[in-house]
Amino acid sequence: MTPEQRKRIVARHSDSLLRHGHSPNALYWSTREIQELHFELLCDIGIQSGDSLLDVGCGFGDLKAYLARAGIEVDYQGVDLSPHLIEKGRTLYPAINLFEGDLFDFNPAPLSFDYVMLSGALNEPMKDGGAYARNVIRRMYESCRQGLAFNLLNAEHEWTANRFDLQSFLPQEMLAFCQGLGAQCRLHDDYLDNVFTLYLQR
Ligand SMILES: C[S@@+](CC[C@H](N)C(=O)[O-])C[C@H]1O[C@@H](n2cnc3c(N)ncnc32)[C@H](O)[C@@H]1O
Repeated sequence: MTPEQRKRIVARHSDSLLRHGHSPNALYWSTREIQELHFELLCDIGIQSGDSLLDVGCGFGDLKAYLARAGIEVDYQGVDLSPHLIEKGRTLYPAINLFEGDLFDFNPAPLSFDYVMLSGALNEPMKDGGAYARNVIRRMYESCRQGLAFNLLNAEHEWTANRFDLQSFLPQEMLAFCQGLGAQCRLHDDYLDNVFTLYLQR
């Protein structure tokens, strides 16, 4: 990621936080229901109380609060590029660990978390043919002991594919890439038109 791309992502979220405060809209989710639908799907990977979880592009850390409401208490670590979202998250949820930066700044050790999840954090265009996103996915997989779950925008959806300000991927191509990492993979692409979720298990 170039310094300009990093600055753009930080600025976009700083503006949206000023406009919306602690709300899914500040994270560019249309509604709380959509944000939580993604959480529900990610958690389908089988996370349970007592597991450790790394949430990449965590925003405020709302996934931790969602899990707690569902009665699942995890050892949570969030990572996000936006200092403003992280600062707000620390005031909302003082007990959770939030790190400012991207996955490579955080630099997790191999196999250091039971699960790694990512929701909505690889939608920013990088103009690199998806190379940064694939590097993030490879590194997330290397960091998990049990599994990885993430979502991406679906390039088969015409509206999404034509958005120059968003990055999208073909589900089957991304599935093949993930299978190439040696993971057991499951693709879920029939819940919303413009998004898909991938599950990678060891
Ligand atoms: C759509 S929001 C989702 C936030 C959170 N996952 C949720 O669902 O509540 C995307 C988040 O990813 C963060 N982000 C974008 N690119 C990132 C990157 N390369 N590394 C870390 N965080 C990133 C943004 O700052 C933003 O908080």
